[in-house]
This record gives sequence, structure tokens and C-alpha cells, in this order.
Amino acid sequence: METVVLAHNYQRPEVQVMADVLGDSLELAMRAADEDADRLIMCGVDFMAEVVKVLNPDREVAIPDPRAKCSLAMRITADDVREIRRERPDAAVVAYVNTPVEVKAEADVVCTSANAVEVVSKLPEDEVVLVPDTNLASWVDENVPDKEVVGYPPAGCCPVHQAMTPSDVGRLVSSHPGLPILAHPECPRCTRMTADHVGSTSQMYRWCEENGPDGVILLTEEGLGFRIERELGVNVVTLEHAVCPDMKVITADKLEKVISSERLPEYTRVEIDGDVLRDAQESVEEMFRLTG
Ligand code: 13P
Ligand code: SF4
Repeated sequence: METVVLAHNYQRPEVQVMADVLGDSLELAMRAADEDADRLIMCGVDFMAEVVKVLNPDREVAIPDPRAKCSLAMRITADDVREIRRERPDAAVVAYVNTPVEVKAEADVVCTSANAVEVVSKLPEDEVVLVPDTNLASWVDENVPDKEVVGYPPAGCCPVHQAMTPSDVGRLVSSHPGLPILAHPECPRCTRMTADHVGSTSQMYRWCEENGPDGVILLTEEGLGFRIERELGVNVVTLEHAVCPDMKVITADKLEKVISSERLPEYTRVEIDGDVLRDAQESVEEMFRLTG
């Protein structure tokens, strides 16, 4: 059986080196759609494995440990989206890829941090509710000035990026003066404003590839730092608390167990109810349609 191992940029180093494909949420979704392997194993958090299944409903999709759940994605439910629609009937609802599949099914379109600005700018609606990351929503709002973009829920954020403060950045800059600063749009606005470049994990990787700095200060999860240092030889400075415990649930041992099993262990299988799968597919396809 042909198996492809997909891994997010935040995975543990020992998992990254076992993967066939490394990338950000958008790249992994696109590669998942392109692969013709019988079995796709997603090393990341559960919403990423769900997206792989949405794009490959007829293939076996597995996650080595389904307890890997994104704390940000858990902030929003399909009922919340229905409530938003009642309160703001003229607004488009955009689901960040970091959402449960039921939320994607209720939304008009999905976006990732790599294409959120493009997706929102191409929507016909002037009012947009972006769930569930208010930091990403404020970044999109700044970059699409002709629309009103609000985040929901009001305190929706990624706990890992929210904990990166301007004083943390000040500390890193004093110990490593002159290094460019790269930030993920999930950082709070005040932290993001300190950055020279803002982008998805792979957009930060490509910035390093294209600009070839000796070193960078990276305001995102440490796993990306491992990949940049290993593949590009750039010295990466990250914060000691830039660790996503959800991403680290996947280990090399758990991955090895799935790779070596002839029949997938039941608990690793990703299955999605038919109606939800179809509606989520439409929202993901709308993202691909808007971004060409
Ligand atoms: P990317 O899509 O930029 O890889 O980000 C996913 C994520 O979970 C960020 O915290
Ligand atoms: Fe979710 Fe934040 Fe972890 Fe990304 S870093 S997977 S948004 S909890």
C-alpha cells in the first residue's frame, strides 16, 4: 500500500525527518488533494487531518494520535456560526482553517493564514466575520481596508501566539540586535507590529530562503525554527515558551506504529459524516476558487 506522510511545520524534529511532505496548512491541504497514495497520514492537529479527509474522501486518512486538538479551533462551534448568521445576515462568514469540520461546513468559505487577505479581498460582501482568531481578523482588516472584518468569538486566539508579548520581543532584540523579525498573524497586534515580515509558517520559511539572512527572530512555534535551521542553515532565535503542546502530542513512535500497520488502528482513522463532509468540501473548494 502506498503511504504518504504529511507533517506540519510545528511537528517535533524526529517527526519532521520522517515526513514525505512538510508545510503550512495551505500547502498540506493542496498536497493532500494532489496525492494519489492509498493512505495519507497527517502529523499535525485534528483539523488538519479533517481537511485531508475532506479533500480525499475515498482514501484512508489517519492521524497518529487523535488527541492532538488545536486549542484555537476548539473556541468555535457550528451553533456559533448559525448565531452569527442570525445577528449579521449580510456578513460573509469565513472559517479559518483552524476550525472543526462542522464549522467549515456552516461557513461560506475557508481561509488559511497564507491566503486570508486574498480570500477576504475577493468576497463580494463588505462585511466579514472571521472565526475564531481575532488576531488574524485584525491583520486581515488592516490589509483589506475597503471591508469591515471582525473576529468572533471576542477573545478567540491561539494561546501559544497570544503569549508572545512586545516585551518578549524587546528581550530578544537586546540579546540579538539587528536580526530581522518574522511573525505569524496569530500574534497579538502589538507584537505583530514589531515584525519586519508577517506571514504563514511557510511564508516565513520562504522569506528566509529568498533573503538568506544569517539569523532571524521567529515569533511563532519553535518547530518551524528546526526546519529553517536544518534546511536553510539560518540561525533561528525563538521564545522559550513558543511551544504548542497540541502539536507535540504526535511522536515518532506513534507515527511509526501507523506507518508499519497493515490495517490502520481504528482510533487513528479519520471519518466524517456525509452531509458535513459535502458542505465542508464546498467551503474549501470556494477558497480554491477565489484564490485561483
Ligand atoms: P500555518 O497555516 O501558518 O502553518 O499555521 C497553522 C497554525 O496552527 C498556526 O498556529
Ligand atoms: Fe492551534 Fe495555536 Fe497550536 Fe497552531 S499553535 S495548532 S493555532 S494551538
